[in-house]
Amino acid sequence: MNTLNHLAIIMDGNGRWAKSRTLVRTDGHKKGADVVENIAIYCAKNGIKNLTLYAFSTENWKRPKSEVDFLLNLLLKFIKLKENLFLENSIRFHTIGDLSPFSNELKDAITNLKNKTKDNDRLNLILAINYGSQNEIVRAVNLALASGIKINEQSISNHLDSAGFGDVDLMIRTGGEQRLSNFLLWQSSYAELAFTPTLWPDFTSQELDKIIAKFRSTHRKFGAI
Ligand code: FPP
Repeated sequence: MNTLNHLAIIMDGNGRWAKSRTLVRTDGHKKGADVVENIAIYCAKNGIKNLTLYAFSTENWKRPKSEVDFLLNLLLKFIKLKENLFLENSIRFHTIGDLSPFSNELKDAITNLKNKTKDNDRLNLILAINYGSQNEIVRAVNLALASGIKINEQSISNHLDSAGFGDVDLMIRTGGEQRLSNFLLWQSSYAELAFTPTLWPDFTSQELDKIIAKFRSTHRKFGAI
C-alpha cells in the first residue's frame, strides 16, 4: 500500500460547469470554493498530511480583469471567513507562489491566517497563488546562488516555496484536460497522475476516495524494477 503524504490538485472546469447551467463563469469559481472546503476536510480526516491546490496561476492574470478581481476577492473572503475550517480541523495554512503583486489587504490576511494556524498539525493546506513552477524553480536557484550554495538537486529542492512538504505522490486534474499547466513540475517527477472528466464544482470526496484507493494499490517503482 502506498503512503499518500502529498496530494496536489489542479482544480479545472469551473467555467464549463457554470456555462452548462447558463450561469456566469464566476458562479463556477464560487461553487469551486465550496468544494475546496469539502476536500480539505476529507484530507484532514483521512491522514493526508499535505494538500496543494492550484488556485491562481502566473498565467491566470491573462483572464479578463473582472474575472481576476473576482478570483482574488473570493480568495480573500475564503481566507478571512473560513478561519473555523482551519481551526476545527487542525489545518495549517500555507501558500506557494510569488505574493508580491497582491494587495496589502490580501497579503495581510494571508499572513494573519498563517500565524493563527501555525500550531495546527493534521493537514497542511497549501494554496498555490500567483504560482508557476518554472518561476518557482528560477527563484529557488537564485536564492541558493545568493547564499553561495552549490546548485544540485537537493539545494534546489530546499529553496523551493514548497520545501518541507515532500515530493508530490499523487497529482489529480479535474475537468478532462490531460496536462500539468506549469504546476509543481519539479516536485511531481515521480508523482502518479490521475485525470478525471469531472468538473471541479462536481468533484466529491467519494470520487477522491476512489482515486486514492487506486493510487494506494499502484506499484510505484521510482525508476527501479
Ligand atoms: C480553473 O477553472 C480554475 C481556476 C483558474 C481557479 C480555481 C479557483 C477555485 C477552485 C475557487 C477558489 C479557490 C479558493 C481556494 C477559494 P477554469 O476557470 O479554467 O474552468 P474552465 O476550464 O471550465 O473554463
